Amino acid sequence: MDKLAAHNPESNMGDYDKARSTFRWEDVAKNFEFSVTGKVNAAYEAVDRHVEELGDKIALRFLDDEKEVTYTFRELSVASNRFANLLLELGIKQGDRVFIFMPRSIELYVAFFGILKIAAIPVPLFEAFMRAGLLDRMSDCDPVAVVTHNSLKDRIPRDEVPSLKTLIVADGAEGDEISFDENRTRKGTFEPVWLGLDDPLLIHYTSGSTGKPKGVLHAQRAIIGHYQTGKWILDLKKDDVYWCTADPGWVTGTSYGIFAPLLNGVGTTIIRGRFTAKRWYRTIERAGVTVWYTAPTALRLLMGKGEELISEFDLSSLRLILSVGEPLNPEVIHWALKAYKQPIHDTWWMTETGMIMISNYPSMPIKPGSMGKPFPGVEAAIIDDEGVELGVNEVGNLALKKGWPSMMKSIWKRDEKYREYFRHDPWFTSGDAAYVDEDGYFHFHGRVDDVINTAGERVGPFEVESRLVEHPLVVEAAVIGKPDPVRGEIIKAFVVVKEGVDESEELKSELIEFVKKGLAAHAAPREIEFIDTLPKTRSGKIMRRVLKARELGLDLGDLSGAGEGV
Ligand code: WTA
Repeated sequence: MDKLAAHNPESNMGDYDKARSTFRWEDVAKNFEFSVTGKVNAAYEAVDRHVEELGDKIALRFLDDEKEVTYTFRELSVASNRFANLLLELGIKQGDRVFIFMPRSIELYVAFFGILKIAAIPVPLFEAFMRAGLLDRMSDCDPVAVVTHNSLKDRIPRDEVPSLKTLIVADGAEGDEISFDENRTRKGTFEPVWLGLDDPLLIHYTSGSTGKPKGVLHAQRAIIGHYQTGKWILDLKKDDVYWCTADPGWVTGTSYGIFAPLLNGVGTTIIRGRFTAKRWYRTIERAGVTVWYTAPTALRLLMGKGEELISEFDLSSLRLILSVGEPLNPEVIHWALKAYKQPIHDTWWMTETGMIMISNYPSMPIKPGSMGKPFPGVEAAIIDDEGVELGVNEVGNLALKKGWPSMMKSIWKRDEKYREYFRHDPWFTSGDAAYVDEDGYFHFHGRVDDVINTAGERVGPFEVESRLVEHPLVVEAAVIGKPDPVRGEIIKAFVVVKEGVDESEELKSELIEFVKKGLAAHAAPREIEFIDTLPKTRSGKIMRRVLKARELGLDLGDLSGAGEGV
């Protein structure tokens, strides 16, 4: 396997082995004010504490095709104080869940920090979610309020979530809704509610292979991990212009779109508008982006647009490119070396880990095709199904020794699910299969469960299946991830329809629309196949792996538990 020379040996981290041998998480905590005061609030550490020294520095730079809006650290601090005052006035208190369901905008970030300041728990949701997607998540953790935008508020299932008392609406509140914009008149000072390191920080909903989406709860302590990985992996320095392309509805958009840069005193770039190669390159040029954290699907799409397009833009500000969310093909790295004159640094982690766990560091030679090595202070291993560590080049379960600061604290109301991750205590089992090579580099092999990864987004088959069977003509459905050269995987649904129903192309389109409109566009199948019966275990569970193997023309493996339809 080829190995590329280190991109930047002069990085913040310097030599990997040296950093690993001397690193202690206890030392990182010294960079925070709570280490002196004993009082913790993530919003204070990310924003307010910088005001004295960096008050006039840009914290948020928002760009859409027409305009640019910037907020300095001081402005963000004051605006989020106002929002915190509004929340208190509305009777929202510590520990309450507050959903953020907004298009990307400065307001989204103001709301996020305002919620944190009163020690309520923000639950950011991707704006593409529709009613059913919202209902599953809201009925799980009973929010008291939603911060939203006029254009999205009609999707909120207000009547079906009894806990939900308050809608705070930007750009046009009506009736009993509270106007976001009114918060501007409120007091601009606020003393954050002080917490301990183990108190809640936020919840992200994510999908598993069974059941509804899970609410992954993180603790305040997570910011220690965000800060240090921001420093050593994103290599953030005070003059950097940083752009993380992920939406705050996903964990990458909060851990690395908000916390890692701001905790390091570096501003974050936010763009509005769908992905297009031109818009993205223009963003890099307009903002002068130096560090760019993105995803393989986007890079593959950019690669598809070719190098000529690049010559229309000035991308010379870029000094570090990173990627997350799905396997990064070696081909993309080689192309980037030509097109951007630098490699892509792959990073691996999950919603549950809260921070990057395995990565290619700027100072370390990259092996294209490998996710890299564990972060200093993180121990990773490959274990078998009994929890025994495997040797070099043996494929098994990718596991991490528990205790890193950003590790999830719990799964909302689902202790048993949480414990499943630690069935090989002290190892956290990721659900990914991987192996480690003779040089200690980790390589991704696949998921061990049925979770689908489409364009870097994690989609649970159960959620899509549940939506499909809500359609009046559908009896049953099973959903798999089908390999795709650009998106990594696409969603394919196998559908059993009621007797006598015409299995037409129109019905396929209708079902796709049905999922799009009810759940979310990114969760909609791209392919549908009608089938007479679904393969099932004797206990009646759908065997998605059988469908997948058939689809790929692979050996069906051990089918001893199989029953109907196999
Ligand atoms: C996958 C995203 C290959 C993996 C931060 C993991 C990756 C899941 C990589 C988590 C990578 C993430 N190479 N696969 N570099 N990074 N994944 O929770 O299957 O949305 O378990 O978190 O994405 O997805 P999640």
